[in-house]
Amino acid sequence: MAWVIWKGITNNLHKLSELGIDAVWLSPFYRSPQKDAGYDVADYRSVDPLFGDLADFDQLVSKAHQLGIRVMIDLVPNHTSDQHEWFQRALAAGPGSKERSYYHFKPGRGENGELPPNNWQSMFGGPAWTRTEDGEWYVHLFDSSQPDLNWENPLVQAEFEEILRFWLDRGVDGFRVDQPHAMAKADGLPDHPYVEEAGAGFIEGRENPPMWFQDSVHEIFRKWRKILESYPGERAMCGEAYVLPLSFMALWVRPDEFHQTFNFRFLDAGWEKEKLVAAINESFEAFDSVGAPSTWVLNNHDVIRHASRFGGDYGRATASDGIGPANPQPDNELGLIKAKAATLFMLGLPGASYLYQGEELGLPEHTTIEPEYRQDPTFFRTKGQRVGRDGCRVPLPWSLGGKSNGFNDTGKMWLPQPVSYAALSRDQQEKDQASTLNFYKTALALRKRFALGEGSFDWVETGELLSYQNGDVLVVHNFSQEAKELPAGQMLIASSPLTAQGLLATNASAWLVTNRT
Ligand code: GLC
Repeated sequence: MAWVIWKGITNNLHKLSELGIDAVWLSPFYRSPQKDAGYDVADYRSVDPLFGDLADFDQLVSKAHQLGIRVMIDLVPNHTSDQHEWFQRALAAGPGSKERSYYHFKPGRGENGELPPNNWQSMFGGPAWTRTEDGEWYVHLFDSSQPDLNWENPLVQAEFEEILRFWLDRGVDGFRVDQPHAMAKADGLPDHPYVEEAGAGFIEGRENPPMWFQDSVHEIFRKWRKILESYPGERAMCGEAYVLPLSFMALWVRPDEFHQTFNFRFLDAGWEKEKLVAAINESFEAFDSVGAPSTWVLNNHDVIRHASRFGGDYGRATASDGIGPANPQPDNELGLIKAKAATLFMLGLPGASYLYQGEELGLPEHTTIEPEYRQDPTFFRTKGQRVGRDGCRVPLPWSLGGKSNGFNDTGKMWLPQPVSYAALSRDQQEKDQASTLNFYKTALALRKRFALGEGSFDWVETGELLSYQNGDVLVVHNFSQEAKELPAGQMLIASSPLTAQGLLATNASAWLVTNRT
């Protein structure tokens, strides 16, 4: 069944334009068995029938461009689907073949090769190795259906250069590059030196594990950058590089590599004053050192929606563990108050801000999805111990009522909407001046009007409020438990109504125009 989701996007692009965004990033839409929401690509030059076809894609891009919206697509170079013809050919060709060298195949350890070749763990839980019928093992840092490609192999490099060109020729404005920090692996695939403590990950300040941010990866990005620059217009690439410390990440956005990388330090700071200040300081220091803009992000398809995350204590955002029915439930009312304040604080910062669909509606996480609907491989690989990321991936409520609040006519969706989404439907919020949607629209319009994205940054001393100046705009947030007096200036926008005495409420942010003499 074709859900023709893209026709839905194309037909609603004017609404995104009204929201005031400059670009959209589409998560992977390629032909895929959808074992990991499309991050398991079976053919990089195709569109999965679930979304439409290449003609629909062209239409989407052309409509977006008419509206002045750029289109970034998701490139997934670390791994393919096990259904990709490269992997199918590798399986068929057997050990030692040229086809196998597209991936990392190895004999196992133990007397009969019955143990995995090393101690690596999968990000989604369990070992990062799966054995094939002929006895060899292949590595997958994610699901077993997502074998990692061997980036030492020039053939793999050449394939991807062609894939980039294929989409650039179709007019895409750039790429969000998935897991670029995983692509290069240390020679010989040695053991993770502290796997017991770090699991699949790494610990900042400790030795760099053999599967993360290896130096050889930079050469690849330099080649890609050259390809992008050989096209007319400004084509860009943003890396989903989970690289820490940020001073190290800065190497990824040197002038001949990525244009931007996501700033997970900021996302993981939560909404705690000290961590936030440190994250912002570190970001400017690191990115300024290479002349790259910082990026800012509070939500994406891998983390608990901030309207719920800030309404409870859920640890590091990027842990991707989700909230299930058995976990303490979030206070979504408090969460939304803080979330809007955090968004306003973020949108005042110079650099590029990334928003995730639905946050402009203040959508909470869906925390009570029944097990039979779950899709995230994390849920399956941990036998439900980590519910994973489905709770933030529920289809949007466009208009109140019907079978899916305007998502489609059939009511069939990959994940069901919670009851609370009806009242948050976009059409209802359009009519309500005080809605979260109109708050986002106003904030984005002001961000543009005052050119905050290209602006400057200085912390400002304003008593108990946390404040910074960007051009003519003073951005303040009240972390204290009491309402506070605002500094002098003309109020542009606040994330919560001021108190009856005209004070800035606790957990609120505001933008003021100040006269800096
Ligand atoms: C990235 C994606 C995530 C996906 C993973 C593996 O982190 O954002 O959704 O599961 O890579 O491709």
